[in-house]
Amino acid sequence: MSNRLYKKIDMPGNIKAAEEAGTSIESIKRFMTLRNIPKMFESINSSGKRAAEIVSNMLSFSRDEHARKTSHNINELIEKTIELASTDYNVHKQYDFKKIQIQKEFTHNLPLISCEESKIQQVLLNIFRNGAQAMQEAHTENPTIIIRTMFNSEKKMNYVEIEDNGPGMTNTIKKRIFEPFFTTKENGIGTGLGLSVSYFIITENHKGEMSVISEVDIGTRFIIGLPL
Ligand SMILES: Nc1ncnc2c1ncn2[C@@H]1O[C@H](COP(=O)(O)OP(=O)(O)OP(=O)(O)O)[C@@H](O)[C@H]1O
Ligand SMILES: [Mg+2]
Repeated sequence: MSNRLYKKIDMPGNIKAAEEAGTSIESIKRFMTLRNIPKMFESINSSGKRAAEIVSNMLSFSRDEHARKTSHNINELIEKTIELASTDYNVHKQYDFKKIQIQKEFTHNLPLISCEESKIQQVLLNIFRNGAQAMQEAHTENPTIIIRTMFNSEKKMNYVEIEDNGPGMTNTIKKRIFEPFFTTKENGIGTGLGLSVSYFIITENHKGEMSVISEVDIGTRFIIGLPL
């Protein structure tokens, strides 16, 4: 766009198109300058580059090969994270985790998974927060989060399902939730990084699986698979 509109505006194709449109390159140039368009293009470009840099720094940080994985029981990790979430002080009062009923449907005696404890907690916490925020905003009656754990012997993975009875998502939103910077929240409330980082942690760092099922007015369920 910037080539066609000002950087290479004297190209023959441009001159011809301007004539066909009943104007001249000179007046288009003048219009662009008067309306500050070149500056706008520059700022779009540099903002885009800055955003790309942030994402790439963030991903290389979490790709850290030296971080050591240890053996964990996923049920215990979930318990710890629930405790964390309930003491999670939130200045903006977007949600109160204590108002949410937590139902645990755990499978006991699960085989251990190999993981980085803090990263898996980060993923779980983000999913809890998202659910709590969504239910608070939608004024969901009897807000509940159900957490299930199970073992899949064929895949040699433990699965965690986190389900809320909140507002759910439309297909258009659901398709984009794992994209960096995708958020439906107000400016300053969400950065849109929570789920994209979570997806990266699960699928790249831990070679696991992460997916979502959601239906409007019924709720949302995140499913995470983690190898033993
Ligand atoms: N449980 C849920 N119910 C309804 N919508 C959800 C739920 N979880 C996520 N979403 C949708 O997915 C979007 C992206 O979530 P994500 O965690 O990546 O970013 P965020 O929560 O908006 O911001 P951040 O996590 O950076 O604070 C949310 O803005 C919301 O629209
Ligand atoms: Mg989030």
